[in-house]
Amino acid sequence: MSSNPDPGARAAGSAPSDGGAVLEARSVFRLRQVDGRDLPIVRDVSFGLRRGEFATIMGPSGSGKSTLLHLLAGLDRPSAGEVRVDGEDLSGGDEEHRAAIRRRKIGFIFQFFHLLPDLTVEENITLPLRILGESPRRHRERVDSLCGLLGVEKLRARQPAALSGGEMQRVSIARALVTQPPLVLADEPTGNLSSKAGEEVVALLRDVCTELQATILLVTHNPRDAAAGDRVLFLHDGALLHHAELNGGPFDVADVFHRLQELGV
Ligand SMILES: Nc1ncnc2c1ncn2[C@@H]1O[C@H](COP(=O)(O)OP(=O)(O)OP(=O)(O)O)[C@@H](O)[C@H]1O
Ligand SMILES: [Mg+2]
Repeated sequence: MSSNPDPGARAAGSAPSDGGAVLEARSVFRLRQVDGRDLPIVRDVSFGLRRGEFATIMGPSGSGKSTLLHLLAGLDRPSAGEVRVDGEDLSGGDEEHRAAIRRRKIGFIFQFFHLLPDLTVEENITLPLRILGESPRRHRERVDSLCGLLGVEKLRARQPAALSGGEMQRVSIARALVTQPPLVLADEPTGNLSSKAGEEVVALLRDVCTELQATILLVTHNPRDAAAGDRVLFLHDGALLHHAELNGGPFDVADVFHRLQELGV
């Protein structure tokens, strides 16, 4: 596919990006009421991702990875701090304001796919375009090339119930990318797949994001997934362990595994 078959589409209605930082989190906190007390689930998280960067977050179960990803996606609001995506403030404003930014700027990939069962694969993939009020027919070239890249062109007329897990996840990646968002967030996208299907999904994500120059942040428990990234962030008790961060990947799986052991994760 050409790097951007429809270059005008992303710019429509968007603010100018600030020097390549696609995602910026500044002193983000999220408190939750537990047994009548406010406990910090996400604590003072600050980091940024550049355009085209492929980063992963690892951490023990309950360390706050999903909570953080939801804050970064504008699906939830920080108790304090700021989240900016492609120059726009996602931490302020009401739900409608956040949803408007989210629909244009962010693709989200879920562990359990979240495909709509009554729609065909093609209708699922083009749904974000229709939500934006854009005609899927106008973006036919983009949809065709995404289906080709993700190997789902033969599945377009099927319904999700007739797909394997790996196929469902490839469809959900196509859906996340169809609006050409600058940021793609994925919460354990391989957690529900066989090892082989998971490996394929991460390789595809990496290739497609490089092709589209999207920034990707992927939560994973799997050192092999993390090894495919440029950077690995470690979360512990809601805080990022900056001293432990790995930079300059792709990595050797054993290096990621050793770092996890060092951290007791
Ligand atoms: N709605 C909620 N109310 C109160 N506590 C919550 C709520 N949602 C999550 N938590 C708590 O916040 C902490 C972080 O949860 P989160 O789901 O972000 O962890 P995670 O790192 O994604 O875990 P996993 O690897 O199991 O998916 C956990 O202790 C969880 O029990
Ligand atoms: Mg989680």
